[in-house]
Amino acid sequence: MPDVDGNNEAKKYYTDIPQTSKNYFLKGSNSLDWGMKNRLGRIFNPASGKTVMLAIDHGYFQGPTTGLERIDVNILPLERYADTLMLTRGILRTIIPADTQKSIVLRVSGGTSILKELSNESLAVDIEDAVRLNASAMAVQVFIGGEHERESIINMTKMVDMGIRYGIPTLAVTAVGKDMVRDAKYFRLATRICAELGAHYVKTYYVPEDFETVTASCPVPIVIAGGKKIPEPDALKMAYNAIQQGAAGVDMGRNIFQAESPIAMIQAVRAVVHNNETPENALELYNDLRNKKS
Ligand code: R5P
Repeated sequence: MPDVDGNNEAKKYYTDIPQTSKNYFLKGSNSLDWGMKNRLGRIFNPASGKTVMLAIDHGYFQGPTTGLERIDVNILPLERYADTLMLTRGILRTIIPADTQKSIVLRVSGGTSILKELSNESLAVDIEDAVRLNASAMAVQVFIGGEHERESIINMTKMVDMGIRYGIPTLAVTAVGKDMVRDAKYFRLATRICAELGAHYVKTYYVPEDFETVTASCPVPIVIAGGKKIPEPDALKMAYNAIQQGAAGVDMGRNIFQAESPIAMIQAVRAVVHNNETPENALELYNDLRNKKS
């Protein structure tokens, strides 16, 4: 029987409370579809707006890199401290337990090795496999200024189109040729091209001068790769500077898994990324954790 009391009816429907409409927390992502946002929200922590991606995909072109010889032994103990694992489908299927609660960023470009011209890549994973693997994003290498610049950009735009069809974001990974200058001018160019052509977030390298102009001119979030192994205090400082200058996180590999204590290092990096800890405090944390272990 319908309500006869009009006041009760109004109460049940909270007619005095307008439905809220929250802005999405990530830069440049407000207009994305629900599935895209949900996946990005599994990579970037909505509380801090940042991410610690553990990059372990190096084997796709350079084989068993130092620190990644046995991912089951060396990397699985780090998994709990990462927000996201960035890796290939081969390692995902063979080593990573399927009950992991971590989001997965799947490397989807490839096709060359360190023995050849690296920019000569193609798409190496079908979107359907990314769906099957429940990927939260797909990573494509883009070689701006490289020999195969055009092909690598088109690889990315193809993945963006396919990802939009299925609600999976694309991470553009800016790769820099050995002889190319790594400066803010180059990274402004590279990151902006990726974002303009549809990348949902971009991975780049940190540069000590004017990095904030790179993050400012890129309309989507930027995460930094760690690059070659450097001393732990320097790596923490680099992560700190990048975050303070607008990066939305790190996608760090060698500076974590080649550290003297990878398990201490990833926790120190987390402190910098999520809690804005200074490099000095993070180093203290690193040393405490490392000493506790030994
Ligand atoms: C390149 O090999 C991969 O895209 C890596 O994921 C990326 O370079 C990040 O790893 P790292 O911090 O070791 O540079």
